[in-house]
Amino acid sequence: MNFSEIAENRQSCRAYCSDRMVEQEKLDRILETARLAPSACNGQPYRVTVCRGDAAKKVALATQGMGLNKFAQDAPILLVISEQPYVATAALGAKLKGNDYRSIDIGILAAYITAEATAQGIASCILGWLDDARIREICGLDNAVRLVITLGYAKDDDPLRTKKRKALDVLVNECQ
Ligand SMILES: Cc1cc2nc3c(=O)[nH]c(=O)nc-3n(C[C@H](O)[C@H](O)[C@H](O)COP(=O)(O)O)c2cc1C
Repeated sequence: MNFSEIAENRQSCRAYCSDRMVEQEKLDRILETARLAPSACNGQPYRVTVCRGDAAKKVALATQGMGLNKFAQDAPILLVISEQPYVATAALGAKLKGNDYRSIDIGILAAYITAEATAQGIASCILGWLDDARIREICGLDNAVRLVITLGYAKDDDPLRTKKRKALDVLVNECQ
């Protein structure tokens, strides 16, 4: 798949085969690609915690509430993305320019993870609805949890949906 094909094929999966594990080599590939993500001042101000088994079930529960994210319970792997401190230059830039580089970096990381997952035939969903304190406790993390990403095989009856996106002329404008 080239990148356009990956973008066309990636979608948020909310129906996983609970009994089909992600092969270790595919997970390794996803994590290796995540490692290549760019970040402000190359600071990489994040950590990826791989949760399987009991930990995955507990983290899945901590993403649920108000009817949201019930499907996370069936995903065999959950990646917990937590913050790490800024490197000094990025901290200075963020302060002087009032720009939240760490959130941007974590977003790019998530994009790399979900794109490589798609390339490997693995379904994913980025979850931002989560209980930070509870997930920190489960995973023994000291810093804020910002995202959880579910990984697994999609159920057969989970077709590729038509993308609903802003029209290009709404998304893009020109300035000369
Ligand atoms: C930062 C972020 C947080 C998200 N949180 C959730 C979530 O908690 N639960 C969920 O089902 N989807 C969540 N999503 C998925 C979005 O709803 C989804 O990406 C969007 O509707 C576009 O659909 P698609 O991913 O299928 O193309 C999140 C996506 C992002 C980028």
